[in-house]
Amino acid sequence: MKNLIAILTVIGLTSCGLETEKITELQMRIDSLKTELANVYKPGFGEIMSGVQIHHSKLWFAGINENWKLADFEIHEINELLDDIKKYQGRREESKDIDMIKPALESLSKAIKKNSVRDFKTNYENLTKVCNDCHKITKFEYNIVKVPSQPVFDNQAFRVKK
Ligand code: HEC
Repeated sequence: MKNLIAILTVIGLTSCGLETEKITELQMRIDSLKTELANVYKPGFGEIMSGVQIHHSKLWFAGINENWKLADFEIHEINELLDDIKKYQGRREESKDIDMIKPALESLSKAIKKNSVRDFKTNYENLTKVCNDCHKITKFEYNIVKVPSQPVFDNQAFRVKK
């Protein structure tokens, strides 16, 4: 009987040891995955905003040149970047305010669908105002967006042949 107890204890301890070994190994794998994840590239808030800036500019030249398909495309690009802010920078306090720009984008979309340059201009100015409103409430008031006077890139034509 004593021997049996001794044997069972040894088996018990060995299997316990194996369990602990397995847990330690899994923990190590989790830790290494965590390190890998932390090193995965994630676009920064300012980086995504620089993309928004480019599409905001192109949107203007598309609209005033009545290239409505391009204007619509640029709005989509801006919306995608706004989604990226939530996806990659959701933990930043400022990300909570990002949706304040949605109504301005929707109104501008309507002007584009109406093919109205006049409505486009008014709504574009309103959109730009909302960009700045958000910069103000997020304490980036020194970051001022304006209606562009020159396209950023010289290698893109905005007017399409009718
Ligand atoms: C959440 C509200 C919010 C809205 C809406 C918003 N921004 Fe920003 N923007 C920020 C914040 C916050 C920063 C600073 C990001 C950082 O930490 O680098 C910023 C930075 C920028 C920058 C500077 C990027 C750089 O690094 O040089 C530009 C340009 C910019 N925004 C353009 C725009 C434009 C154009 C719009 C409108 C179409 C817009 N933003 C709408 C919050 C906003």
